[in-house]
Amino acid sequence: MSQRKKIRFGIIGLGLMGREFASSLARWCHLLDDGAMPVLAGICDKNVETWKWYNDNFPGLVIKTDDYKTLLNSDQIDAIYCAVPHNLHEHFYIDIINSGKHLLGEKPFGIDMSANKNILDAIHTNPDVIVCCSSEFPYFPACQQLIKWLKARKYGRIIEVKTGFHHSSDMDLSKPINWKRMIAINGEYGCMGDLGMHTLHIPFRMGWKPTSVYADLQNVAKTRPDSKGSLVPCETWDNAVLTCKVKDPENGEEFSMVVETKRMAPGATNNWFIEVYGTEGSAKFSTHNPKAFDFLTTSGKEQGWTRLDIGSQSAIPSITGGIFEFGFSDAFQQMIGLFIQELSDKGSLNPFRNVTPEETSWSHELFTSALESHKTGRKIRLL
Ligand SMILES: NC(=O)c1ccc[n+]([C@@H]2O[C@H](COP(=O)([O-])OP(=O)(O)OC[C@H]3O[C@@H](n4cnc5c(N)ncnc54)[C@H](O)[C@@H]3O)[C@@H](O)[C@H]2O)c1
Repeated sequence: MSQRKKIRFGIIGLGLMGREFASSLARWCHLLDDGAMPVLAGICDKNVETWKWYNDNFPGLVIKTDDYKTLLNSDQIDAIYCAVPHNLHEHFYIDIINSGKHLLGEKPFGIDMSANKNILDAIHTNPDVIVCCSSEFPYFPACQQLIKWLKARKYGRIIEVKTGFHHSSDMDLSKPINWKRMIAINGEYGCMGDLGMHTLHIPFRMGWKPTSVYADLQNVAKTRPDSKGSLVPCETWDNAVLTCKVKDPENGEEFSMVVETKRMAPGATNNWFIEVYGTEGSAKFSTHNPKAFDFLTTSGKEQGWTRLDIGSQSAIPSITGGIFEFGFSDAFQQMIGLFIQELSDKGSLNPFRNVTPEETSWSHELFTSALESHKTGRKIRLL
C-alpha cells in the first residue's frame, strides 16, 4: 500500500466539468509527483441520472447524495470540487468554506459582484480553508513558456495585450437553450461570466489590472428553441469586446488591453489565446496551435516571428514522452495538481498558482463596469 497522503475529494455538480475532474483523479498515476494524491470519495448531484457514469467507473465511492450538505458534514471528505450553475455558487461556496472543507470552485465565483463579495467574506472568516478558482489554459506547456518569457520582461515596454476566448458552438442557431443562455441562472454577465476569468488569469497575475474599460456587448441569437422546439427568448450576451487601459506596475506606463469573450466566433472551436506586443519583444499563444510558442525580438527594422514547438514538458512532470502532444484534459489535471500542492507544503514552490479569490473579485469589478459601459456608452474608470 502506498504511504502517500490522500486528499479525499467530493464533487458537487456531476455534469461536464464534474466528469472532467473525476477523470483527472482516475489517472493520477499520469503525474510524476510524489506528494499528496487526490482520491474521489464522494459525489453529489440533484439529477441522479448523472450518478451512473461515476458508479460504473469509481467503485471506491463512499458517499453518493443529492444533498451537498451530506458531503460537507462528512469526516470522510477533505476537499470539494464544485461545478454547479452560477446562481448556486454563492450559497454552495459559502457553505463549503464554512464547513472547513478546502474548495476548488468554478468560475465566475458568484453570479454577480454581490455574490462574489459574500464568498470572499466567508473566505476571510475561515483563513485555514484553502480556496482557488478553476482556470486551466495557462498550464499548456507552450503557454507556460510564454509566462516565463513574460516574467523575464522580454517585451521592453508593453504596447498592447490581446487576451480572449472564442467559441463557435452557438453559431448553430438550432441549438436548444440551456442554463448558460439564461440570465437568471448564468447571470447578467453572459459570455463574460462564462469565459472571462479564463482570459484574465495571466494578465491579473502579471499585475495588469484595468484602470478603465469601454465595452461593446452583442446578443446575436435573440431566440433559441426550448426542449420541445418552441422558440424562447435567449437574452444573454453572446459576444463581448472590452477595451481596457492598464498601467504596467513595473514602470507605470499605460497600455491597451483588449479582452474578447465570444460564443459566436465563426471557425473557432475553443480558442483561448493571449498576445503581448512590446517595444523590444512580442509573444503569443493560442490553443488553436497548442504546441506553438511564438515570439519575436525587435531589433531595428527586422520583425521576424520565431515558432518553438513545445512538447509535454508540463509544470508537474508526467509520464508522457517529452515530444508528445498535450491537451485540454492534461491542462485540467495540471491545474488540479497545483491545487493539491496548495494544500501541502509544496504550495510555495508552485510556478503559476491557480486563480486566487482576490483575482475573481477583480474580474467581477471589470465585468460589472463593462455592463455599465455598454449601457451608458461611456468609458468607466475602475480604480
Ligand atoms: N473550467 C472550465 O473550463 C469550465 C468549462 C465549462 C464550465 N465551467 C464551469 O463549471 C460550472 C459547471 O458547468 P458545467 O458545464 O459542468 O455544467 P453542467 O450543466 O454540465 O453541470 C452542472 C451540474 O450541476 C448539477 N446541479 C444543479 N443543481 C444542483 C444542486 N442543487 N445540487 C447538486 N447538483 C446540482 C446539475 O444537475 C448538473 O449535473 C460552471 O460554473 C461553469 O462556468 C468551467
